[in-house]
Amino acid sequence: MNSLEGKVAVVTGAASGIGKAIAQTLALEGAAVAIADIKLDAANAVAREIAAQGGRAIGVAMDVTAEAEVDRGIDAVAAEFGSIDILVSNAGIQIVNPIEQYAFADWKKMLAVHLDGAFLTTRAAVRHMYKGGRGGVVIYTGSVHSHEASPLKSAYVTACVRMWCVRASCARRWSTSRSRSRPGNWASAKTKSSRGSCSATRWMASSRPWKTLRRPCCF
Ligand SMILES: NC(=O)c1ccc[n+]([C@@H]2O[C@H](COP(=O)([O-])OP(=O)(O)OC[C@H]3O[C@@H](n4cnc5c(N)ncnc54)[C@H](O)[C@@H]3O)[C@@H](O)[C@H]2O)c1
Repeated sequence: MNSLEGKVAVVTGAASGIGKAIAQTLALEGAAVAIADIKLDAANAVAREIAAQGGRAIGVAMDVTAEAEVDRGIDAVAAEFGSIDILVSNAGIQIVNPIEQYAFADWKKMLAVHLDGAFLTTRAAVRHMYKGGRGGVVIYTGSVHSHEASPLKSAYVTACVRMWCVRASCARRWSTSRSRSRPGNWASAKTKSSRGSCSATRWMASSRPWKTLRRPCCF
C-alpha cells in the first residue's frame, strides 16, 4: 500500500510548475488530489494526466484571493473525497521591478496571492481537519526569499517573509510540541520536472505525521 493511501490533498497553483509536480508526487504516493488553480482548464488537464496514470484527482476552479471561491472550492473537495488531510498552499506569482517603478496594484496583487491565499486556504482547510479530531498537514511553498532579500523583488520578498510568519503562527496555534517545521524545498521540481524531486513531499509521505497528530500541523 502506498504511504498516502486514503489521504486527501489540496494543492493550490497545481496547474503548472512546482504545484503540478507536488500534486503528481502526492498522487503517486496514493493520495486523492485536488488541483486547485485559477486556470481551470489547465487544472483539469493535470487531473486527467494523473487519472491516466492510475491516480485520483479533480480540477477545482479557485482564485486563492477570493474568499467565497476558496471556501466553496475546499468544501467541494471535502464533499468529493470525504475529507481534507493535506493542504499545500503553493499558488504564487512573480512581478519583478525596481521599487521606484513598482506599481501599487502589483504590490497589492503579490501580497494578495501569497498572503491572502495562504490565510484563506489554510482557514478553509483546517476547518475540515479539525472535524472528528482528524488532524492534517499544511505546507507553504516559500522561497529562498523567505530568508534572503533581492533588490528587484520588494513585494515578493515581503510576501515570502510574511508567509513564513503565517506558518510560524499556525505552528504555535497547533501546538509547537506536536507540529514540525520543514522548509518547503521543492525548488528542483520545476527545473527537473521530476516528481521524485519533491523532497518535502517524500519526507511527508515517509514520516506520516498525521498518524500521531490529532490537530493540523504545518511545514
Ligand atoms: N520557480 C521558482 O524558482 C520558485 C522558487 C521558490 C519559490 N517558488 C514559489 O513556488 C510557487 C510555485 O511557483 P512556480 O514557479 O511553479 O510558478 P508557476 O507560475 O509555474 O505556477 C503558479 C501557479 O499558480 C497559479 N495561480 C496564480 N495566481 C493564482 C491565484 N490567484 N489563485 C490560484 N492559482 C493561482 C497559476 O495559474 C499557476 O498554475 C510560488 O508560490 C512561487 O513563489 C518558485
